[in-house]
Amino acid sequence: METILLNTENHVAIITINREKALNALSTQVLTELNQTLDEINANKDVYCIIITGAGAKSFVAGADIAEMKDKSVEEAATYGQFGNEVFRKIETFRCPVIAAVNGFALGGGCELAMSCDIRLAAENAVFGQPEVGLGITPGFGGTQRLARLVGAGVAKEMIFGARNIKADRAYAIGLVNAVYPAEELMGAAMKMANGIAKNAPIAVANAKRAINDGLQSDIDSGIAIEVKEFADCFRTEDQTYGMTCFLEKAKEKTFSNK
Ligand code: CAA
Repeated sequence: METILLNTENHVAIITINREKALNALSTQVLTELNQTLDEINANKDVYCIIITGAGAKSFVAGADIAEMKDKSVEEAATYGQFGNEVFRKIETFRCPVIAAVNGFALGGGCELAMSCDIRLAAENAVFGQPEVGLGITPGFGGTQRLARLVGAGVAKEMIFGARNIKADRAYAIGLVNAVYPAEELMGAAMKMANGIAKNAPIAVANAKRAINDGLQSDIDSGIAIEVKEFADCFRTEDQTYGMTCFLEKAKEKTFSNK
């Protein structure tokens, strides 16, 4: 693939958006190759966690490709928006956790890509924003929906209506990112977190992700019912018996089998 790099280390897949000259802007080619890469990773049951980052030191993703969008018709814009949303929803509902390692600009579609991930870690030089109204459009890959859910409607509206970018420290203060690191420490921190997740029972982690995500879209009683089902389903797995046996036998090391 031209625009996506994929490296797998142990149980962690690292996806790099690789279009550095255009600050990793999301052309249709990037979105298509990202979509294919996610399908490829999904077929590899040994991957327990994903990290998404951008090539180079300056940008995570500087948005959807403005040059490609400029002359789109209404119908073409709808198709493009639909496709971007499908790819990002695939990330949000992916069977294992996805960490965004935000190494610079995360604007428009870049902020939306980061928000479709489960956890966002940022470098000190990261900049977040939804500058679309300054281009005469609205956010189109989930920004109007996920930003308000993550940081609350008031701050989301302030950022979106004002096309106001924010730096990493402000993103941390409003809960948009989990942690901020010096740029040179970002990937190490993301790998450490991913490896920590990958050490746990993969099916239990997947069930917990589904319970949190589906529960957030439900009333509390439906959410509790979702949790009870995901919790009980773990008792079908070998990893549940193994994990509890390890605890009771005071085992120092454990390796889950993903079964
Ligand atoms: N689309 C296409 N090309 C882009 C791009 C984008 N979103 N962002 C940057 N580029 C290209 C620039 O056109 C430039 O290309 P050339 O060298 O061929 O001229 C190259 O990347 C480097 O960019 P700059 O020279 O502008 O770099 P800078 O350091 O001066 O500025 C920046 C960096 C502030 C991020 C600036 O590039 C910028 O504002 N980019 C656009 C950000 C934006 O508006 N994103 C939202 C897009 S709309 C969207 O995403 C809709 C949606 O929700 C689906």
